[in-house]
Amino acid sequence: MRLEGTVALVTGGSSGIGAATARALAAGDATGWFEQLYAAGARGRVPMPWSRRDPHPLFVDWAQRRAVRGAGRRAVVVGCGLGADAEYTARLGFDTTGFDISATAIRLAGQRFPHTTVDYQVADLGFPQHREGFVMPLPVGQR
Ligand SMILES: C[S@@+](CC[C@H](N)C(=O)[O-])C[C@H]1O[C@@H](n2cnc3c(N)ncnc32)[C@H](O)[C@@H]1O
Repeated sequence: MRLEGTVALVTGGSSGIGAATARALAAGDATGWFEQLYAAGARGRVPMPWSRRDPHPLFVDWAQRRAVRGAGRRAVVVGCGLGADAEYTARLGFDTTGFDISATAIRLAGQRFPHTTVDYQVADLGFPQHREGFVMPLPVGQR
């Protein structure tokens, strides 16, 4: 798996989390840095990543334009992080599962939305790490 892009993203600063992330990548752990980042956010060491409480505007726009209704249907939100998009998906009526590789993110999502109907789970999308140029489509937290 190519890691160059990810390394460029996370090694710009000299913070502790940057070093931890670099260590995870150097150890061949391409995804462990997500948990480290959320855990550092939970301890107040870094700003909480992807911490918006509202669904992504592009997702809302997409759902509204198509008048998406989820009643009687199931949805899975991959890499759901702190849950804003999963909660919106559930409000659309879907029987929603949200999963993320970060246990801290899933714990915090449950705390943020204590009355949620979303089934939050810790899980790894588990793409094959030995393959070059593999693209993993994940919802992102930025426009
Ligand atoms: C850019 S963040 C976006 C978080 C959230 N979707 C949002 O938009 O606020 C990517 C998310 O994908 C999760 N993630 C990364 N690799 C994953 C994997 N292999 N399996 C499950 N989740 C993963 C990360 O922990 C992180 O929460």
